[in-house]
Amino acid sequence: MDRLNGSANLMIVSDLDYTMVDHDDSENLSLLRFNALWEAYYRHNSLLVFSTGRSPTIYEELRKQKPLLTPDITIMSVGTEITYGESMVPDDGWKQYLDHKWNRDIVVEETAKFPELTSQSETEQRPHKVSFYLEKGKASKVVQALSKCLENRGLDVKIIYSNGIALDVLPQAAGKGRALDFLLQKLKTDGLGPLNTLVCGDSGNDAELFGVPQVYGVMVSNAQEELVEWYAQNARDNAK
Ligand code: GLC
Ligand code: MG
Repeated sequence: MDRLNGSANLMIVSDLDYTMVDHDDSENLSLLRFNALWEAYYRHNSLLVFSTGRSPTIYEELRKQKPLLTPDITIMSVGTEITYGESMVPDDGWKQYLDHKWNRDIVVEETAKFPELTSQSETEQRPHKVSFYLEKGKASKVVQALSKCLENRGLDVKIIYSNGIALDVLPQAAGKGRALDFLLQKLKTDGLGPLNTLVCGDSGNDAELFGVPQVYGVMVSNAQEELVEWYAQNARDNAK
């Protein structure tokens, strides 16, 4: 980010799995083409942001498997962790902000009452994210019942269903969209606010990116059912 001495021309905020990264493309042709384009025409005056559901552990694994560029900013764990630069300096202000009205222990206690929820691996359980697997057919009922339970315990949480399989419980103030709001505000304060912002995604946890004011959006053609449904219900009139 040090190379910018004013507004970024463009800021791309992209999801990774099945958006920036095509796991079915063993030669990584599209990714390598994007990388070349970015380095040649955008790197000097623009900002690249990756926004992934992955925890730092499995984001690093993906970086070993695929030829990803090093982004200026990395947002991980579904908008609960923001880091800057190559050395990935964490935004402690964001962490503190998310602590407000968040009680992880209560989330763990209440979710344990739902046999339909299977815990994801330990690496994906983060300070502001509790994650499970849940069958598609059971998703809407479980989400409804769980939000009632947590509300009754006085918590204000966000429950997101993605990829037709994953369920994340986060503080209400978290998520990819809220993290982007926070980032845009911060960049603006530092005089680096982008002239144009483009968000890109394919699944449920990307939906809120498209609701951030003043951003342009790309919903990829292989988008998951839950995002296509969200679009039909919420965003049709906004299409540009
Ligand atoms: C990533 C994360 C997982 C999360 C999912 C959907 O796959 O590793 O924990 O549930 O994204 O947000
Ligand atoms: Mg994805």
